[in-house]
Amino acid sequence: MLRTHTCGELRPEHVGHTVTLCGWVQRTRDKGGILWLDLRDRYGLTQLALEEGVESEETRAQAREMGREYVISVTGTVAERHSKNDKMPTGGIEIRVASLTVLNPAKLPPFLIEDETDGGDDLRMKYRYLDLRRNPVRNNLMLRHRVAQATRRFLDGQQFIEVETPVLIKSTPEGARDFVVPSRMNPGEFYALPQSPQTFKQLLMVSGFDRYFQIVKCFRDEDLRADRQPEFTQIDCEMAFVTQEDILNTFEKLVQYLFKEVKGLEIGELPRMTYADAMRFYGNDKPDTRFEMKFVELNDVVKGQGFPVFDAAGLVVGINAQNSAMYTRKQLDELTDFVKRPQVGATGLVYARVEGDGSVKSSVDKFYSQDELQKWKVAFNANPGDLLLVLAGEPGKTRKALSELRLEMGHRMGLRDKDTFSPLWVVDFPLLEYIEEEGRYFAMHHPFTSPKPEDMALLDNPATIGEVRANAYDMVINGVEVGGGSIRIHDRAVQARMFSLLGFSDEEAKAQFGFLLDAFEYGAPPHGGIAFGFDRLCSLFGGADSIRDFIAFPKNNSGRDVMIDSPSPISGAQLKELSIATAVVEKK
Ligand code: AMO
Repeated sequence: MLRTHTCGELRPEHVGHTVTLCGWVQRTRDKGGILWLDLRDRYGLTQLALEEGVESEETRAQAREMGREYVISVTGTVAERHSKNDKMPTGGIEIRVASLTVLNPAKLPPFLIEDETDGGDDLRMKYRYLDLRRNPVRNNLMLRHRVAQATRRFLDGQQFIEVETPVLIKSTPEGARDFVVPSRMNPGEFYALPQSPQTFKQLLMVSGFDRYFQIVKCFRDEDLRADRQPEFTQIDCEMAFVTQEDILNTFEKLVQYLFKEVKGLEIGELPRMTYADAMRFYGNDKPDTRFEMKFVELNDVVKGQGFPVFDAAGLVVGINAQNSAMYTRKQLDELTDFVKRPQVGATGLVYARVEGDGSVKSSVDKFYSQDELQKWKVAFNANPGDLLLVLAGEPGKTRKALSELRLEMGHRMGLRDKDTFSPLWVVDFPLLEYIEEEGRYFAMHHPFTSPKPEDMALLDNPATIGEVRANAYDMVINGVEVGGGSIRIHDRAVQARMFSLLGFSDEEAKAQFGFLLDAFEYGAPPHGGIAFGFDRLCSLFGGADSIRDFIAFPKNNSGRDVMIDSPSPISGAQLKELSIATAVVEKK
């Protein structure tokens, strides 16, 4: 080893020891008589000191030449510091430098490599390897490592077997868009990168593996958001001979274990909420349950009083922002602008304040008498000081808009604390969802999800197909969908029926998923599983909104890696070899 200790290791008990450290120069301070250098490595920061008349002038001159981020090796004696820094683990000591070697000089980095940096997002992405030297970013990756190790420990302890599944697979029409890879050896044909190892893990169940897991890269060509990357990682799991109950119990234990190991928190049993209730009370299938503020439906309370907006609306629904009646006109205007943003989509906001004397003052006083407004108060179970916020319109859109407003209010009212965790299961998702623009049903989870046996009969009637519930579940924490799964279909006939409901002809189903249908004829056990968004879990544990900082080399919002400059054009020769030259020539 080039070093005897790391930069995070030395303490007052090492005083008098001769040590050699290696690392990067974070900072140099020259106070004339005494010269200090902060030396950094992955483990911490150690102060080096060179004093006039004590350390040699030659070494001091050499130290003065050290630029930021030079890689150096330094040998010296551990000494007690005169003025200790109790914010630093090594703050009780410094190294009196005897000799110093430059292992590699460095160009001046484009931003400060310190906890608080002056580098903007784009710059830090371009020089990601430098950003990764910073504590906050490195700590995120260390947390990720701990979550991965704890996951493996837990699942190994439960007899799960880690199996790798292929990355070059087959494009399928369901789900998100695929990333595709041309095949040189099969001109004109393409592989697809897996959106998830779904069908492979089901085949492993047919193979008798019984309990499978994989911490695995998945690829989806979809629009990016803070919690979405085109390549991301799942903790992908599957079990045979289980019911939904067994899966929920097993993976609830995994998440409890991770919270305990990584955060030192006991999260207890996870509550369960049906999809129908989640939509009704939170307007969202991933409710943030750190705070209540449940939806209150008002159709029966507010209609028929001559207010055209409410009278014409399919749904009038609101929330009670407790103790927020002091909101000023300006703040209420801000909220109105917020709900009118295209992403939220409401046409306007009605509000009412409950005054100290219990009377209610609303933005629609013209249409509602005090007696009527008192009925609002009862419906909302409101008290003096509360602020009632009401939206009206088409039910689906209105719930969605109110859900956004609820989250915004939760944020403004400080109810979405990053150190509070509120996990739950959302269960009983619909099997199918009708997509108006496509004019057909799509699988809400995926085409391999099993309908609830008690709802099977509803599949026979076109009028009730949309009501069929699936044995499908999501795990939600603080408004983030961290995982989702289902009990699968394991019967060939049911699977074929499902494909036909999704608009596949027999030939198409055979061409796309023939291997799975075939496998189901060779003894497929009942099975089910789940996949967790590993990046999302890590960012939740780390208290961040974006998963980007928990991925070593992420893509930006346009799906680009600006460090390696990818995607990028390839040569004509390469294109020709892949038999896709013509397509590109035409485009040019
Ligand atoms: P699903 O599509 O719900 O299920 O994905 C499982 C979990 O993966 C995470 N996730 C993502 N994370 C980051 N970036 C993305 N683009 C992204 N997309 C999804 C979410 C999500 O809950 N095969 C099924 C699972 C199963 O049925 O067992 C599947 O992939 O946290």
